[in-house]
Amino acid sequence: MKLVTIEWKNNGIRIIDQTKLPAKLVFLQIKSLKQLWQAIKLLKVRGAPALGAAGALGVYLGVKDLKPRNAEEFKILFEKACRYIGSSRPTARNLFWGIERMRKVFLDNKAKEARKIKQALFAETKLIVSLDMASCRSIGLHGSRLIKNNDTILTICNTGILATIDYGTAAGVIYRSHEDGKRIKVYACETRPLLQGARLTTWELKRKGIDVTLICDNMAATLMKQGKISKVIAGADRIAANGDAANKIGTYNLAVLSRYHNIPFYIAAPASTFDLSIPCGRHIPIEQRAGSEVTDLFFKHPVAAKGVKVFNPAFDVTDSGLITAIITDKGVIRPPYKKNIRRKIGR
Ligand code: MRU
Repeated sequence: MKLVTIEWKNNGIRIIDQTKLPAKLVFLQIKSLKQLWQAIKLLKVRGAPALGAAGALGVYLGVKDLKPRNAEEFKILFEKACRYIGSSRPTARNLFWGIERMRKVFLDNKAKEARKIKQALFAETKLIVSLDMASCRSIGLHGSRLIKNNDTILTICNTGILATIDYGTAAGVIYRSHEDGKRIKVYACETRPLLQGARLTTWELKRKGIDVTLICDNMAATLMKQGKISKVIAGADRIAANGDAANKIGTYNLAVLSRYHNIPFYIAAPASTFDLSIPCGRHIPIEQRAGSEVTDLFFKHPVAAKGVKVFNPAFDVTDSGLITAIITDKGVIRPPYKKNIRRKIGR
């Protein structure tokens, strides 16, 4: 069965409920904007590119049944829906990219009757979904050229089908290399506290027949020291104009370790993850999440002293100086990043 992480279906949004994986593959039908907001907050749907689609589909869901009395009222309600869904999670640039594309379509069509504006918004959601599918395949193609036969790749979090519409970014590079017949091995970091690597990456890589081995996050250094890793590839939630890249907490650790062990460290992300309005990673908003995610293993079993203080940032920022290259849908970007990002992604 082909997996589609998020799509418009039955007059609503259908997502795979990722909190149920790997035990059960459950689809969730989302009928309201509030329900989508909660699904994003709880990581039922997650991963930067999937959030881009969620933002756009959410905006459409929020306005499709409105019967505004006039254009002014429609604009106010539309903006309310945009701001509401944008308040669900702060870090992934793609979420805001999806919302901004919808906003542009609304403004370009604002002189039309509400029914026509809604049609244009729906068409934009379709375009965003197909753009994601195409950009992931393009990342896969460009990235796979960096992968050699018998490479062993270390990755973190989930950057595959479940983080996009149906393919993946960093995992897309792995999928494409596998499809091309290269013999590759993958080590997946479990990715504490919410275990996206253990629960999601191992599940989808195994489904695709990839040779994957799970490790605890604190085992990466040992693997590198033993010479078992030839490349590290991670995704990104937001990349600043100078190439600093925010991704799942623990990515920066891997970049520092890679530099020490002389291992190429790659970030893979579509153009929609770049935020050229910010000069460097210090400006990236980092989501802080509930301490219970750390103290109660996947919300179920206590693993820490009751009431202990917790530090739980969901993302960290890897300095561009530690990144060997950024694999994008527009090609592979190498240092100097400031100049080359503008040239390739430039908006
Ligand atoms: O908190 P999550 O699970 O949404 O974090 C996701 C990541 O950090 C991914 O690596 C990133 O979004 C890139 S996904 C292609």
